[in-house]
Amino acid sequence: MDGLRRLEYRGYDSAGVAVVDGGRLHTEKRAGKLVHLEKALAEGFPDGPIGIGHTRWATHGGPTDRNAHPHVAGRVAVIHNGIIENFARLRAALEADGVRLVSDTDTEVAAHLLAAELAAVRHERVTGPQALAEAMRRVSRRLEGAFTLLAVDADTPGAVAGARRNSPLVVGRGNGENFLASDVSAFIEHTRDAIELGQDQVVLITPEGIEITGFDGVPATGTDYRIDWDLSAAEKGGHDYFMLKEIAEQPRAVADTLRGRLTADGLVDLDLGGLDLRDVDKVYVVACGTAYHSGMVAKYAIEQWARVPCEIETASEFRYRDPILGPGTLVIAISQSGETMDTLMALRHAKEQGARVLAICNSHGSTIPRESDAVLYTHGGPEIAVASTKAFLTQLVAGYLAGLRLAQERATMDPAEVTRHLQAAPAQLTALLDTMDPVRKLARDLSAAPQVLFIGRHVGFPVALEGALKLKELAYMHAEGFAAGELKHGPIALIDDATPVICVVPSPGGVLHDKVVSNIQEVRARGARTIVIAEEGDEAVRPYADALIPVPPTPALLAPLMTTVPLQILACEIAAARGHDVDQPRNLAKSVTVE
Ligand code: G6P
Repeated sequence: MDGLRRLEYRGYDSAGVAVVDGGRLHTEKRAGKLVHLEKALAEGFPDGPIGIGHTRWATHGGPTDRNAHPHVAGRVAVIHNGIIENFARLRAALEADGVRLVSDTDTEVAAHLLAAELAAVRHERVTGPQALAEAMRRVSRRLEGAFTLLAVDADTPGAVAGARRNSPLVVGRGNGENFLASDVSAFIEHTRDAIELGQDQVVLITPEGIEITGFDGVPATGTDYRIDWDLSAAEKGGHDYFMLKEIAEQPRAVADTLRGRLTADGLVDLDLGGLDLRDVDKVYVVACGTAYHSGMVAKYAIEQWARVPCEIETASEFRYRDPILGPGTLVIAISQSGETMDTLMALRHAKEQGARVLAICNSHGSTIPRESDAVLYTHGGPEIAVASTKAFLTQLVAGYLAGLRLAQERATMDPAEVTRHLQAAPAQLTALLDTMDPVRKLARDLSAAPQVLFIGRHVGFPVALEGALKLKELAYMHAEGFAAGELKHGPIALIDDATPVICVVPSPGGVLHDKVVSNIQEVRARGARTIVIAEEGDEAVRPYADALIPVPPTPALLAPLMTTVPLQILACEIAAARGHDVDQPRNLAKSVTVE
């Protein structure tokens, strides 16, 4: 149960367990968060030396008790992450054979296939745990799509079999005990020794042994590694929510992401392995959700500093419109988890078309960096809250570093002009976080508003989008971000008496500053209540601000590192004031491993 709790971020609309004890299979599963399962187990559930457990994010079939995992067929129980794409065909074939399925899931199909293959394998006189592994291989070869499968069998009391294709699975090597999980946080209190499985591999664990093969049965090895973070990093550390803890960690996360990557003379020194950036003639950034917003900022930085055309695209749209890619194209895939299927598929498409791929990622050893030509890790540490905060700030930093490195390569500017400001960012963030009390108070005032609008220009535009996304995700409020100049072309009709409009203002002095100030006046003239985020000492905005949130000064392109922070706090506190689960908002998952 402790392991499942730490995996709840992957989905939490239902949960279940299966245990094998003395030749008997016991399962329990419940719709809703893990606590419902815990209550059911507390009423009495047998112990057993082996078991499997699952928290679900629904794909096929709603989040009901019936559709929760494990799924049982005969004497086997199966849990599954991912989507089996040929499930309709397989299901029809099973039904034609008279198999009665009780759920709407693709997983139950896999369970029935496994039970049938296991019978066939035993018929060929293969016995013991090897039979379960062989049956798992045969099933895996018949499945299309993405899956991590784990299975136990009442007649194989000492073993768990697992399979992985396009979906994560790691092994924890213990002493007289072994573990399988989609993420090491599930077993970190038991062991720090992990094995990352490769694509299309089956693993069989017993208390003493770990045996890995390909789907074809050929013996294989995973990649051994030692987990270098501990359990306390995955716990709340005195804050009410993981999200608040992670917001507070941002100065450290930004400093860690910069560490070792800037030289004494202000140049950028990145270890990009063999990835050559010299003749890049086009950059695409692909990402989803919050990572997409960081990519928008990267686009502005890359074009301005390196003078190379850069597009940003939603990962789920990218490959389906057949973008023009070639050996001169650099695709930057940004993903906190490194497992987001939409981003992974965009990356694979880019590679197939001959493009070079650089990953910006927070999770070591995850799929996206492993499949990229080079990786720039954001050293944010584990992010537990579903709504991304420190990962976003560190993605911004990594995007800046990539932009500066490209600029250095092309001699289009002197990176030192920017890097000394980047180095000042952690201390500025610490100072900013100390001034957030008025923002918390403001959050309480805004919590009953029917909608909140966000406006910004230049890099303030992605910040506006990110602020609105946070509010949607956490507070379930209608929130929209707009390019401030676009407001008058339609969205201004949304403004009503006292509609809160959060305005992200660029540094004073530039032409954009005055344009945004004009946009603020336009919304005020229509009754809006303006909440203005502006640089400390920006007196020009004061007359138009119903509330003013000052942030430390930075060069224009680096401003999102500061202006995002009050928006994170605002969304978190509004959600708490509305009584919502801040760390696990409804309908979401931290890592979405389906397309
Ligand atoms: C999910 C999360 C978002 C996140 C997005 C991309 O939808 O709920 O908060 O921004 O995935 O995740 P990634 O791990 O690829 O950065």
